[in-house]
Parts: sequence; structure tokens; C-alpha cells
Amino acid sequence: MSDLVDLRSDTLTQPTPAMRQAMAQAPVGDDVYGEDPTVRLLEERVADLFGHEAALFTPTGSMANVLAVRSVVAPGQEILCESSAHIARAELGAHAVYSQVTMRTWTRARGQIDLSAIQALYAPDMGPFFVPTAAVSVENTHNFAGGVTLPLADLEELHRWAQSVGCAVHLDGARIWNAHVATGTPLRAYGATADVMAVCLSKGLGAPVGSLVVGSQHTIDEARVWRKRMGGGMRQVGILAAAGLHALDHHVERLAEDHDHARLLAQACGVDPSKVDTNIVVMERDDAAVFVERAASEGVRVSAVGPRTVRLVTHLGVDAAAVERAAVVLSRL
Ligand SMILES: Cc1ncc(COP(=O)(O)O)c(C=O)c1O
Repeated sequence: MSDLVDLRSDTLTQPTPAMRQAMAQAPVGDDVYGEDPTVRLLEERVADLFGHEAALFTPTGSMANVLAVRSVVAPGQEILCESSAHIARAELGAHAVYSQVTMRTWTRARGQIDLSAIQALYAPDMGPFFVPTAAVSVENTHNFAGGVTLPLADLEELHRWAQSVGCAVHLDGARIWNAHVATGTPLRAYGATADVMAVCLSKGLGAPVGSLVVGSQHTIDEARVWRKRMGGGMRQVGILAAAGLHALDHHVERLAEDHDHARLLAQACGVDPSKVDTNIVVMERDDAAVFVERAASEGVRVSAVGPRTVRLVTHLGVDAAAVERAAVVLSRL
């Protein structure tokens, strides 16, 4: 491990030697023909983990979110989400560009669900007057809020209400594994609160590529058609699915270590560690860009995710010694 400590994102992980070996040995076939046994295994396993009927392997979390959202929101309808949600802030308008979906947002500290705000925003289909709300999206953990977990009780309450008004719930679970490890909530319990989900293998789990849409068989059959239409049909991609299967076997429980490391770094930065739920620390600083530059000049890479917001993310490429080195630099700065 070099002296540089890279805390910009948990997408920066390198595949481990064991992961590379699993990839090299994976049986593969043409996945557009449905003949890649490793992809099928991964899709079945992930669907089962969340208690849903089926899943679809995609190259990115953004594509999984686009396919998931379009499965529950038709062109001209809207989805509600928290104002710093990844689907609103960081997918470059994909849901508008590809799916003609509009969004309205609520804002709540730490990216939390605000059911009364959601109920106030919700618009039933009233004919040719207002945009109808077809779905509500939640993000768990919430990236830009600082890896915050959403309480299961809130997710359940939202889902019950959404069902009662005929509205779908989309879960952006790019880091649902972190939420599961941090709270002990079973993955199936999270799965039961969403109609359709997107989950990622390429964040804290350390796979080089790969996400999945998770939902009903009908949703996934349709998503498969749309994935191909968008240019996302892949061939002998079991070589990548194998990395995901390896990550599920070996890299889920270890996320607890990343969470401990994040709390240590929070303390070094003067952030209350009890506010750090998982592997992301955010801090508000007027000099965010300068701080990022000064940290980099001392061998610690962090990122500015807003003009006054600095973000640090721990992951399997940053061991305890690296965290200690980073803590010394960051506390001095
Ligand atoms: C919460 C969340 N959702 C979705 C994505 C999109 O994933 P990808 O970069 O694979 O498109 C990210 C990426 O960091 C994310 O943090």
C-alpha cells in the first residue's frame, strides 16, 4: 500500500488478488442470450437476498437506477425524492433525458424520510391538470448526507402509506450493504419496503463493476429489454459477475471495519463520531477547496462535494495504518 491515503470514494478500490482469481475462473456465456451461468447465479442470489422475484445485472448504479425508476414512473409522471439524493444530483438528468420523468424534492436534515412533506407533495392523478406522482425514491445509505442510514420503521411507514395511495417506492441501495451491517437490519426487511431497488457491488463491496436492479419478474423482464435498448446488453460478463459473487461472500461483514475507520477520522476532523453511521464523513468548511488541496499536498486525498462540503469515504483499500496516517494529517489541518 502506498503512502497516499485515498479517501475520495469507496469506488476507488482495487480488486483483491482473490477476487481476480475468482474472475479468471468464472464459467461464462453470452448473457444477451441468457447463457452466462455466473451472471444468472448472481442475479438469482441477489434477488433472493432481498426477497424479490428477480434481478438484472447492469454495468453501473446509474443505469440500474434509470431502469428501476422507469419501471415505476411513466413519461410525464413524477418521482419524489430527498433534495440531495443521488438520482436528483448526480445522474446528470438521466431520468429526464432517457425516461421523461420529472422530480420534486423534500429536504430534511441527514437525508431522512419526511412523510408529512412527502404527503404534502404527493399529487394523485387528476386528469390533464397536474403531474401525477407515481413513485417515491429513498436512498439508503444516503451518500451526500454522509452515509446516513434510514430507520427501518420510517421505510415501513412510507411503504404502507405509498401502497395505500397506489404509489411505488424505489430504493437506491447503492450502499444498502453498509446500512445492513451498521444497523443489523436484515436485507430482506429492506427489500420488503421497496417495489423496485438498485444495489451496487462496485462501492464498498470492492467489485470493479456491477450493480443490479431488483424487483418483480415482470419489472426485470422489462428492464432487460430496456437495458439492451440503452446499449447495456453484455456478453461474457460472468467474469464481472464473479467479482460480485466474491464480494458478497467476503466483503460484506468487513464493512464494519470501514465504519470504525470513518468514526476515527470524524474524531480527527472534529466531527461528532456519533453522527457517522457508516463509511462516509461529511464536514462543512468555508474553505472546502483549499482544505482538499492542502490535504492532498500532505498525501491524503479527500473530495469537495459542494462549495462548503468536504467528504471522506473509507473502504477496503484503506487499512488501519493508513487511517492513522490520515487522522494525523487531517487533525492538524
Ligand atoms: C447513492 C448512489 N446511487 C447511485 C450511484 C451510481 O453508481 P454508478 O457510479 O455505478 O453509476 C452512486 C455512485 O456513487 C451512489 O452513491
